[in-house]
This record gives sequence, structure tokens and C-alpha cells, in this order.
Amino acid sequence: MNSKSSFRIDPMTKTLPIIDTVSALRQQVNAWRTQGHTIALVPTMGGLHEGHLSLVDLALQHSDRVIVSIFVNPTQFAANEDFSTYPRDIKTDAKLLQQRGAHLIYKPLSSEMYGAHETTRVIVGKIAQGLCGTSRPHFFEGVATVVCKLLCQASPDVAVFGEKDYQQLLVIRTMVRDLSIPTKIIGGKLIREADGLAMSSRNQYLTKSQRSKAPLLYKALQQVVDIVEKGHSVSQSIKAAKSQLTNQGFVVDYLELRDADTLDLVNKDTRPDARLRIFAAASLGKTRLIDNLAVSNLEP
Ligand code: PAJ
Repeated sequence: MNSKSSFRIDPMTKTLPIIDTVSALRQQVNAWRTQGHTIALVPTMGGLHEGHLSLVDLALQHSDRVIVSIFVNPTQFAANEDFSTYPRDIKTDAKLLQQRGAHLIYKPLSSEMYGAHETTRVIVGKIAQGLCGTSRPHFFEGVATVVCKLLCQASPDVAVFGEKDYQQLLVIRTMVRDLSIPTKIIGGKLIREADGLAMSSRNQYLTKSQRSKAPLLYKALQQVVDIVEKGHSVSQSIKAAKSQLTNQGFVVDYLELRDADTLDLVNKDTRPDARLRIFAAASLGKTRLIDNLAVSNLEP
């Protein structure tokens, strides 16, 4: 396949070119580099919403060509999780990406990502422990492995990730630093629905009544941040927020105040100038929601 034939509008979606092999991807990236273009990658698992699309906007600000990868990565799901039911709708995704000005969809075949004989895994260490790393022990190994592969395959100048998955963003920054991967990692801000619920592909699993309760998670975070900023007790406010959520039918996994750079729990040893962030994960029925919010001015 030459670079022209690899860059054809996809006949099924009639939107953007969709490439499914590493060799076709490399050919296209090389062709763009020869033309002097810079390249951004936005890794996703599809089920696209405004949160993902805001990352495409950011990618377009930082590069000439934007590749969006869509791959529901099996290694970041545990056996009891939603791998098989995860939203998959390439036609809608492709249309949204075309409207937003992305240039190429990379939707790799499973065999391109996990060949029959592959055994390598990327383990990032401390930053991947705690928070989601405790409740989903397989998760960050799967994420780091697939993102490492995607960065090696596309060799982009920049890659964009959302602060919605704040710990994931730090895990990827750490991996890229430690493995000397020559890609600049850019973080995009968390995009919310009008009622405050953090946008997520998994929100479509919520029933009507769960959807109406879901913004309470963000409200609980706001409430804790407000109390913490006023200098009141962190542990009391967290305890109160947790029990309010439980009373509303959430099963709270964690609600914790941490150093935004190291993810260490906040305690008496925390630097007075540390940037702080509150993190939460809670389930409504079978749907796990995560959210996080910066604390602007904690009283020491
Ligand atoms: P996915 O959940 O599809 O998210 C893809 C990217 O979109 C991630 O960087 C995520 O943080 C970002 N994102 C999701 N919701 C957002 C929101 N409401 N506001 C801003 N950004 C948002 O995260 C993954 O996929 C996967 O773990 C992946 C990195 C692709 C590896 O498989």
C-alpha cells in the first residue's frame, strides 16, 4: 500500500480514513513527516463524547495532523468488568471526529496490539498504586502497556490525555519520562455535563434514576473542596460527604484528598505549598463513576 492508497476516506463510514495496521499507520505518519507536518495522537476507547472531542481540539492547537486511536483495550479490564459491553459505534465516532477536524482514525486490529506471542507488560510503579490502582489492580498495567504500544506505533510529537482520568495522566507522564519516549504529553481539562456530571462513555449505562443522582458525586467533591478551602477539618468533611453519597445509593470506593503531583495522601508531612486535589470513585448500580477536583487554597 502506498501512502496515497492508505489515506483514503473509509468506505463504510464515508468520513475519515480509518487505518487498522501498524505498517499503514507508520506509512501515513512518515508521509506527513516528509511533508513537514507535526503529529498528535489522541488515544481513546471510542464511545466518543465532548470530553474526547475537547482533546481533539487541544491536539489541533499543538500539531498539524491529529490521529485519534480507537481501541477497547482488553488488558485494562478485569474478567468481571465491562469489556464485552463497552460502547462500540465506529460510525458515530467517525462522524464526530470528522466534524471536529481530526485527520485519521487508527482502529488497530487486536492482532496488531496483542500478537499471539506477546508477553511484555509495562509496570509504572508507585504513582499507579492507590486510588484506582487499589480497586482495579490490573488497570494501570493494561493502560501503560497499550499507551506505550500506541506511542511506539504512531511516534507522535504530542499525545493528549484528559484530566478526567487524572491518575492515568500521571501514570502516562511517568512512563514517558522513565522510558525516554520522545512524545510530549499534554493534559486537557475535565469536561462536564451541564449538571456537573463528568462526561464518560460509561454514563450511557446509567438508568434514568441513576443518571439523575450521578451529579451528586461532583457536588460531594465541591462540598469537600469548599470546606477544605475554608480551613475546616478534611477528615470530617470527607466522612460527611461519603455518608451522604451512601445514603443516596452510591457505593463509595474512595474519596480522598491527595497531593496533585505525587498522589501522596495529604497528612502533616504534606508541603504547605503542595497543589492538592480531591479524588473520588463510586458506583451506582453496575456503573463505576470517577471524578476529581482541584483544591485552590488550602489553609496550612
Ligand atoms: P477513554 O476512557 O476512551 O478516554 C480517552 C481519553 O479521553 C482519556 O485521555 C480520558 O482521560 C479522556 N476523557 C474521557 N472523559 C473525559 C472528560 N469528561 N473530560 C476530559 N477528558 C476526558 O482513557 C482511556 O480511554 C483509556 O484508558 C486509554 C488511555 C485510551 C488507554 O486504553
